[in-house]
Amino acid sequence: MSITALVRAIPRSYHRCLREDEVEIDVDRARRQHREYVKALEALGARVLELPALDDDPDSVFVEDVVVVLDRHAVLTRPGAPSRRGEGESLVPFIEGFELVRMKAPATLDGGDVLRVGRFVFVGLSKRTNREGFELLAEVARAEDLEPVAVEVRGGLHLKSACTALGSSVIGRFERIDRAPFVACDLELVDAPEPMGANVLDLGAGVLVSAAAPKTAALLGERARIIELGEIHKGDGALTCMSVRFADEVRAGRR
Ligand code: GLY
Repeated sequence: MSITALVRAIPRSYHRCLREDEVEIDVDRARRQHREYVKALEALGARVLELPALDDDPDSVFVEDVVVVLDRHAVLTRPGAPSRRGEGESLVPFIEGFELVRMKAPATLDGGDVLRVGRFVFVGLSKRTNREGFELLAEVARAEDLEPVAVEVRGGLHLKSACTALGSSVIGRFERIDRAPFVACDLELVDAPEPMGANVLDLGAGVLVSAAAPKTAALLGERARIIELGEIHKGDGALTCMSVRFADEVRAGRR
């Protein structure tokens, strides 16, 4: 199965991105780290498509938040942060072949709150994603015979700040989210040894792991590919939110 990954370059305004801690950000270093991320995706076999940079949208590198791609549909989200609501539209030409759904008010949803594992679509109810956002995505998921599952997010920005897919398992820090919905779906859960280890990106051929999670990299052994992401973490970003991934075969089949 070949994977397409949509990415968007670090904008000039990245140092003004939304974040919990107002730490200073080095935009040039962030750009270098983003380039390494793109190279790592390519090294693991992904076909990377780079969207035009949005220099006036400080958070636009976190492209995953503005679109959720399922098997047949692409849902252009209404991000929880009002400052991010102009980021999605320029992405539309890159998701042709999918049935496009545009999320409308009062729904809000960030793609960082959506975790697909097999036929399950877990959706975090978080600072950014509300019940209406969940309901809208749930309707689209059910139309594809997928099973939507709501998960309370108790801390951190997004669901995928706390857990991500590792093959057919879920790796995470389960003190920040409810374990019960995952257990009810009979999924194997792996406790990440450190907080940054909760967000990994499994591309099958290997698993990207932040350099801030050395114990998680050790746990994954030779499957791990370590990436330096210091300036990305400062912007409350991680591995999954910097790309939108989908199987090429799925899209080709829709044309
Ligand atoms: N800086 C990522 C976000 O807050 O959306």
